[in-house]
Amino acid sequence: MNILDILQAFQERYDRTPRIFQAPGRVNLIGEHTDYNDGFVFPMALERYTRVAIAPQKERRLDIYSANLDEATTLSLNANETARGHWSDYVAGMAHVLEHAGYVLPGAMLYIHSDVPVGSGLSSSAALEVSSALAFLSLIDQTIPGPELARLAQKAENQFVGMNCGIMDQFISIHGQAEHALFLDCRSLDYQLVPLDSSGARIVVCNTMVKHELGASAYNQRRDQCETGVRLMQQHWPTIRALRDVSMTQFLLVEGSLPPVVAQRCRHVITENERVLDAIAALSTTDLQRFGRNMNDSHDSLRDDYQVSCEELDWMVEMARSQPGCLGARMTGGGFGGCSVNLVELPHVDSFCRSVAQQYAERTGLAPHLYVSVPSRGAHEINL
Ligand code: GLA
Repeated sequence: MNILDILQAFQERYDRTPRIFQAPGRVNLIGEHTDYNDGFVFPMALERYTRVAIAPQKERRLDIYSANLDEATTLSLNANETARGHWSDYVAGMAHVLEHAGYVLPGAMLYIHSDVPVGSGLSSSAALEVSSALAFLSLIDQTIPGPELARLAQKAENQFVGMNCGIMDQFISIHGQAEHALFLDCRSLDYQLVPLDSSGARIVVCNTMVKHELGASAYNQRRDQCETGVRLMQQHWPTIRALRDVSMTQFLLVEGSLPPVVAQRCRHVITENERVLDAIAALSTTDLQRFGRNMNDSHDSLRDDYQVSCEELDWMVEMARSQPGCLGARMTGGGFGGCSVNLVELPHVDSFCRSVAQQYAERTGLAPHLYVSVPSRGAHEINL
């Protein structure tokens, strides 16, 4: 659906003219499962957006329609709503968190359409939270500084939806910029937009089209294991607050005394933070080979130490790495299905896409979706 379709559909449905806001999904280039350990991440916003059209109404009620699902739902802003395990939880959660932060919202009519594939690890949830947040704030003529808005959107997901995610997805959906990836320090929320020179290579996202159910519980379990590691290492170094503070030298001193699974999880996070820093340094000298090697190592560590990959992701990554011109391939996002991200030299992009799609389909019987992606602009209002 393009913007005019959304505008027209809104008018037909609600007989009003809306304002429209959009927020993108993201792909993380490197720095996986580091955000909730106060570490470093390097995502970029995708050219795929969730759009929320909105107009106020008198009753303190949200009428929400999803064009993707052709489904309408209604929520009261006065009742103490809780999550229902429904797509509208992200919208309700955002309204809930904003009200808790002191922003009193009027009722509204919403019309939602998204190009971000759901359940594919490209952050459709963050895109929905952030676009809803901008839409709600517009009703009361308010704006919130980006980092604070990212925290509120993360809170909607943590406290309302019940997914204990870090801040990466919401942050990049707000702060993304065309032609740039974003290097974020998840502790201080200091960030730097790093130009991605597209003259030599492209980012190709490969969707495995699978999503394994254990995702959410395994995610929260990984977080707990990281926190256990921190508690145990604090006995040696009381100033450690998060895995971000542990150097490789320190880790090697205590590795043998940690429960083996906890040691594996910590090793991933500590080495992954080092890889992010090395990858960023590689970009500053346009050393794409070195950037790609870090991506490869990241995947291997997520597969072997953090254990959040799955067969389909591993196949996709192996197939990618065997193609000419593939500089790096890794799973991206939380894991257990979803997408891989690949850095592919420009002259090889077409043949890469053809061969990987064909080999993956032969192996799994699934038709994967491949997206040649460029970094895009973060959340904003669409000028009608
Ligand atoms: C999900 C979460 C993020 C991050 C990634 C893993 O996308 O929402 O906060 O933890 O997994 O890097």
